[in-house]
Amino acid sequence: MERGSDTSVDCAFLDDLLTEGRVAHGTSVREQYASDESPHTGRTPDAVVWPASSDEVAAVLRAANERGVPVTPRSGGSGLEGSAIPTEGGIVLSTAEIEHVDVSPDDLQVTVGAGVVYDDLNEQLAPYGLRFAPGISSSDVATIGGMVSTNASGFNAVRYGETRDHVRRLEVVTADGRVLECGRDVVKTSAGYSLKDLFIGGEGTLGVVTEVTLGLVGIPEHRRAALVTFPSRTDASSAVADAIGSALLPGAIEFIDTTSMKMLNAYHDDITFEERPTLIIELHANNSGIEDDLAFAKAICEDHGMRSWEAATEENLDDIWQARRDKYHATKAYRDDWDIALVGDVVVPISKYPDIVAAVAQASEDLDLLTACVGHAGDGNLHFTPLVDPDDEEMVERAHELNERVVRKAIALGGSATGEHGVGLGKRKFMDDEHGGALDLMRSIKETFDPNGILNPGKVLPDE
Ligand code: LAC
Ligand code: ZN
Repeated sequence: MERGSDTSVDCAFLDDLLTEGRVAHGTSVREQYASDESPHTGRTPDAVVWPASSDEVAAVLRAANERGVPVTPRSGGSGLEGSAIPTEGGIVLSTAEIEHVDVSPDDLQVTVGAGVVYDDLNEQLAPYGLRFAPGISSSDVATIGGMVSTNASGFNAVRYGETRDHVRRLEVVTADGRVLECGRDVVKTSAGYSLKDLFIGGEGTLGVVTEVTLGLVGIPEHRRAALVTFPSRTDASSAVADAIGSALLPGAIEFIDTTSMKMLNAYHDDITFEERPTLIIELHANNSGIEDDLAFAKAICEDHGMRSWEAATEENLDDIWQARRDKYHATKAYRDDWDIALVGDVVVPISKYPDIVAAVAQASEDLDLLTACVGHAGDGNLHFTPLVDPDDEEMVERAHELNERVVRKAIALGGSATGEHGVGLGKRKFMDDEHGGALDLMRSIKETFDPNGILNPGKVLPDE
C-alpha cells in the first residue's frame, strides 16, 4: 500500500540545477522510488534526481535546504530496513549514476563513486588479485554508497570485517551543500575526530556519501568449504561459538535452520539440501595450513554431534553460495499470499549465539509463527524472518511481538538491534534501550549536521 501519490511539494526548482534527464517529476517514475526491498510501507516522493557528480549533489542539497524540502538518499535500493523510503515525501536523490572506479593496486586501495555496484567493483578488481571483502547477499544490486551508509556486511565479515573496517576516506556532501573530505587515503591516521565514522552507518541522515576510498584484500589462493549438518539448532550454533571461541578464523561460517533449508529446496530446482540445521563453513588461506584448519573445524563439529560433512567441490561452491544469497527471495516465495513481516538482524557476543538462536525458536513456538533463520554466525549475527498472512492483523501483530522479544533479549545479552541492515524505520524504537544516554548526544550531532532536518527525516533516531 502506498500513500501520498500526489505531489505535495513543488520541486520545479530542480530543473535549473541539473543537466537534462537527471530530474523526474512524472508519477510513474516517482512511484518506482517509493519503496526499497524491505517489507515497510512505501511513499511516493515528489521528485527523483540522479546527479552526475558531487557538485550536482551539492546544488540539490543547497536548494532543498533553503526551501526545507526533505531529501532521501538512495542508490541500489536493496536495503531491508526502509532506509531509502522517502517517508516524508520530497526528493529521492539517487547516487546510482556516480560510478567512477580508480584502482591503486600498489596501495591496495580503490576510489569509487557511490553508485558502483559491489559485484561490478569486485569484477574490476579481480585482474589485480584484489577484492572488497565484506560479502553480501544483494551483491548484484547493492552499491558502495549504500553499503557505507548502512555499514553493510555479510558472509565474509567474520574474517575481513564490516564495511567500516575498509573505508579510508569519504567524500560527503553536507545538508547545506558543502563538499567535504573525511579521512585520508592511508591505512591509519590520528588526526582528530573521525567524521567519516559518523557518516558510515548514518543512513544519509548526516550527509550524502558521493565517493569512497576502500582498502582491499588479496583474493585467497586456497578456498575450502563444507556443508555440515547437526541434529539440532543448539548443536549447530554451539559448534559456531566453540569454533570462533577457539580462534578459528573462517572466511565465512553461516548458520541455516531447517525451515530455511526447506525454503531453499522449494525455491531451487537444481540443488537439494538435507533439511537439518546446517553450517556452511568456508576457509581461506594462502598456504597449505588450510588442511589443518579444515581438520580442526571438522573435529569441533564432531564434538557437537555433527550428522554429515559434505565437502564442497569447485563446481558446486558457487551454487551453494548463490542458493544462500537467494534465501530472502526463497522465504518470500514460500507461501502464496503470505509475506515477510519484518527482517530481524540481531547480533550478540559469540558465546551467546546459541541463546539467541534458541530465543527465536521459543518465541516462534509460543506465538505460533513460521520463522526462517539464517545468520552470519561467526559474527554472532542472526536474521529471522517471520512469514505472515498480511490480511491477518492479529498474526502480523504476533510477528512484531516476536521481534520485540528477540531484539530486547539481544540487547540484554550485550548485543545490538542491527548487525548490518541499519536502523532505518523498524529498529528506531530499540535505540533508546541500546544507547541509553548516548542517544541525546546523537540528537545533538544530527542537529549540528542538519539543523533544518532535511536529510532522510524519520530514520535512525526515534521521535522524541
Ligand atoms: C542476508 C541478508 C538478509 O544475509 O542480510 O541474506
Ligand atoms: Zn545478512
